[in-house]
Amino acid sequence: MNVHAAALAKAHRFDEQTSTFACDVIGDLSQTPKRLSPKYFYDATGSELFEQITLLPEYYPTRTELGILRARGREISAIIPKGAALVEFGAGATTKVRRLLNICAFGAYVPVDISGDFLNAQADALRKDFPDLDVHPVAADFTAPFALPDAVKAMPKVGFFPGSTLGNFEPHEACRFLRSARDILGKDAQMVIGVDLEKDERVLYEAYNDAAGVTARFNLNVLERINRELGGNFDLSAFTHRAIYNRDRHRIEMHLISRKTQSVRILGRSFSFRAGETIHTESSYKYSLDRFTALARGSGWKTRESWTDDNSMFSVHALAAAD
Ligand code: AVI
Repeated sequence: MNVHAAALAKAHRFDEQTSTFACDVIGDLSQTPKRLSPKYFYDATGSELFEQITLLPEYYPTRTELGILRARGREISAIIPKGAALVEFGAGATTKVRRLLNICAFGAYVPVDISGDFLNAQADALRKDFPDLDVHPVAADFTAPFALPDAVKAMPKVGFFPGSTLGNFEPHEACRFLRSARDILGKDAQMVIGVDLEKDERVLYEAYNDAAGVTARFNLNVLERINRELGGNFDLSAFTHRAIYNRDRHRIEMHLISRKTQSVRILGRSFSFRAGETIHTESSYKYSLDRFTALARGSGWKTRESWTDDNSMFSVHALAAAD
């Protein structure tokens, strides 16, 4: 915990996670332009809203990635060593990992996530459906170094990072994550990773500005979370969701736009907003196959195979740790 977080923890009797949240929110809203980290979307409501997003007609990534994993199952299983430990970075819905567990003979499954409760629920569900599989959940921030359980240390390792979560990292963070994953998994490791692709801007715009307004609720929920957990007084009706495609930076940007001049109080501090001022809440980078291959190469991985769907909307890559 840094000094500011420690002071906030003491003054407000926050636990460690809440004081880090408080510290990040205060720091990020003090920047110009204002921003908030996308990792704070995922409280219980945000995770539920994200599950709803994955089912929206406009949000193509989840179903397209599942389609690729289904269509390429045989090729993926041919690459993966028998008895390997599958290490999933971030534990979301189990749909995608089940697809891999069904097609490959893994010796163990290691889901890694900061939310211990969610992780244990996910691990229990998988133990029930795959009684022969050893499941070893690790509660850790997967973007930082962590130790693998002793039970899997001698097994070959395969990382799994689906959903284009990599796209929510800034390019230098994506590189740092891939390097750290390589260090954690070891020198003979493999990795299966899902990456969203550049495409027609209209398709991207609609995927992040859905007609039913679920993405808007998902975006606004972070303000609700600040109100609830940090005693903020955001008026949610005074902010509007907007997602735009930034062509120069190859990314969708999600923003919350202030509808009027206003000020908001959080933990005794006041943050003023001009009408039209934005809080940048998320970037979702879209890659070309070449740019992703170059990123992987520069981060200690070589590409063994890359698969896309028929419309080149999404990609799944099998990587191997480079020497
Ligand atoms: C989790 N992540 C890959 C999603 C994305 O598409 O960037 C998060 C999301 N934001 C809005 N809709 C979905």
